[in-house]
Amino acid sequence: MVIFDPFTDTGGGLEMLFRWGHVLSGITWIGLLYFFNFVQTPAYAELSPAARGEAFDKLTWRALWWFRWAAALTFLTGVTILGIQKNLGPDFADYFAGKQGTSIAWGAILGTIMFLNVWGVIWRAQKVVIASERDKLAGGEGDPAQAGAAKKAARASRANTLFSIPMLFFMLFTSHFAIVGNYADPDGGVMVGAWAIFIVIVAFIELSALGLLGGLDNFFNKAAFDKHRNTIIAGFVVWALLFFGGWELIIGEQDTAPVSGDTTPVSVTVAESGG
Ligand code: HEM
Repeated sequence: MVIFDPFTDTGGGLEMLFRWGHVLSGITWIGLLYFFNFVQTPAYAELSPAARGEAFDKLTWRALWWFRWAAALTFLTGVTILGIQKNLGPDFADYFAGKQGTSIAWGAILGTIMFLNVWGVIWRAQKVVIASERDKLAGGEGDPAQAGAAKKAARASRANTLFSIPMLFFMLFTSHFAIVGNYADPDGGVMVGAWAIFIVIVAFIELSALGLLGGLDNFFNKAAFDKHRNTIIAGFVVWALLFFGGWELIIGEQDTAPVSGDTTPVSVTVAESGG
């Protein structure tokens, strides 16, 4: 059977099966993320306190189970794909210095930050919120830490929504454009420039969402995260900065090579050069 021949090599059947599992778990995770941000949060703001308490107890609780385990599975299948491709072994430095490796590194770093936000911030904070809502349903006062925990979770969730837009682009870009597009063969200089843009932008957004740059209500958080419409716009702005700034401007097009006897420069495409 073709699926077993080859099975465990790069590009073989096993990698295909893991890609399938990766995208299935990825859509489950990000689908629920968008449900929380675009549907649940605005709807809960309009529910009565009693209805909201019941919804946290019966609906949010279940949704969060699928959400966090889908995030874990997406992360694990993604890392396994890198392993099957043998990109985590001795070829690590070569792969991640190239166009394909740089693209997947950007997608995977964004995905990994999102995964850590789910387990380290959102889930921890939502446990406080749900316990407090359940306490109120049982006639208690609720936890005074609830409002703070809800704000923390909301900021991290909006940061994940923002990141999901460039994350998915670079996830797909890796095998479908970075490798065949006529981008320059990366050299140390351009890569350092592109990575600098990536690190500064991503670190700023994450640290801000965690409240480490002047609190959870600093100017950026309010502008980008208070309304989900603004979060979506910010996601596309960040994508444009990373893609046009990092890839089109800094990495840029492949050098043109003059053909002998002809002074007109022609682009050497991957297909022409057999690469
Ligand atoms: C959590 C960290 C993540 C890691 C480490 C990771 C890693 C990877 C890797 C290694 C690939 C294969 C790249 C290639 O060689 O073509 C990939 C592809 C892909 N990933 Fe992720 N990923 C992560 C999160 C996500 C998320 C959240 C989604 C959301 C749906 C996602 C969707 C995809 C898609 C659609 C592909 C493209 C499959 C293809 O074009 O064949 N990934 N990812």
